[in-house]
Amino acid sequence: MDRAETPYELLGGASPLRELVDRFYDLMDLEPAYAGIRKLHPADLANSRAKLFMFLSGWLGGPGLYAERYGQPMLRARHLPFAIGAAERDAWMACMIQAMEETGVDARLRAALAQAFFGTADWMRNRQE
Ligand code: HEM
Repeated sequence: MDRAETPYELLGGASPLRELVDRFYDLMDLEPAYAGIRKLHPADLANSRAKLFMFLSGWLGGPGLYAERYGQPMLRARHLPFAIGAAERDAWMACMIQAMEETGVDARLRAALAQAFFGTADWMRNRQE
């Protein structure tokens, strides 16, 4: 029986996902363009790395690590303490796109994921502009 591969499988599983998340937060730490969203995060990004990895694992169709440990993600509610507008959304997206490019995610998968990420990032906006 053939079945469609999940984005998690297309990406290559846990190890490439870990690499992507690490690059994402390394870039957020390094690049002046992402300083605005970096300062919303805690000084130590270890927890952010662990949680985004666990969340994306399930979100991409792999093991539901985040839900197993923390229950429903309720991502929008969890982002309400941080003022997120179009600028923050766009910085988050640019950082993720750069991380996908630099970790060698296949161009077609990258385009599909960018579209899916945009939906989630846009939904996180909570600041009147
Ligand atoms: C739109 C711009 C975004 C900004 C500015 C932003 C910022 C933040 C901040 C400041 C935190 C709390 C610090 C932390 O727990 O490390 C956080 C947590 C988190 N974010 Fe975002 N985020 C954005 C979009 C997204 C998107 C698109 C996703 C998923 C695709 C995501 C997934 C998460 C997860 C899983 C957590 C941990 C939640 C928890 O506390 O359990 N974020 N984000």
